[in-house]
Amino acid sequence: MNVLVLVGSLRPDSTNRRLADAAVAHLPADVQATVFERLADLPHYSEELDHDDALPEVARDLREAVADADALLLVTPEYNGSLPSALKNAVDWTSRPRGASAIAGTPAAVLGASGSPRAAQWAREDGVRVLRVAGADVLEDTVGVGSAFQAFADGRLTDPELDDALRGLVRRLAEQVRAHRTAA
Ligand code: FNR
Repeated sequence: MNVLVLVGSLRPDSTNRRLADAAVAHLPADVQATVFERLADLPHYSEELDHDDALPEVARDLREAVADADALLLVTPEYNGSLPSALKNAVDWTSRPRGASAIAGTPAAVLGASGSPRAAQWAREDGVRVLRVAGADVLEDTVGVGSAFQAFADGRLTDPELDDALRGLVRRLAEQVRAHRTAA
């Protein structure tokens, strides 16, 4: 099983990257996770670019990575009450071509971290909504980390209840993939 991770913060010392790493550490041993590292290289989505002869290589690669993934993990900071544009742009690219998108039917879950105690709640809610509209089979529950600059030590969440919630969510995502396979 292969999980593709999209991290909405582009900075190296990102708390959302730490959250993504902590989530991946909770995945069952037989699950592989890959972070798509090139969100910053994606041009803004335009239908002018969305043709075989104009499609940017990075957009093609993102679509292939989503098509190859059994599940998606969206990890988002909150920028002005919503998803950062880099992350929304990635979802927009993967949601096309309409009717044949890579993301349709893919199990997905949303996590978010912010410096404030509100734990990126609006961004997480928006992440669930845009993934659902894009056609993913997204878990309604999310995990949010507030006051994120103080929340990690040695690569783990220091709050045991939050860490349990994180483990529970990523394990449910893996179960959802197995349920999809059984139904197929
Ligand atoms: C923010 N931040 C922020 N935080 C929040 O709780 N609600 C918000 O609406 C915003 N808005 C916002 C806009 C912009 C442009 C920036 C750069 C930041 C703070 C943000 O949550 C904080 O920087 C996170 O820690 C960023 O995540 P990383 O980079 O640590 O993963």
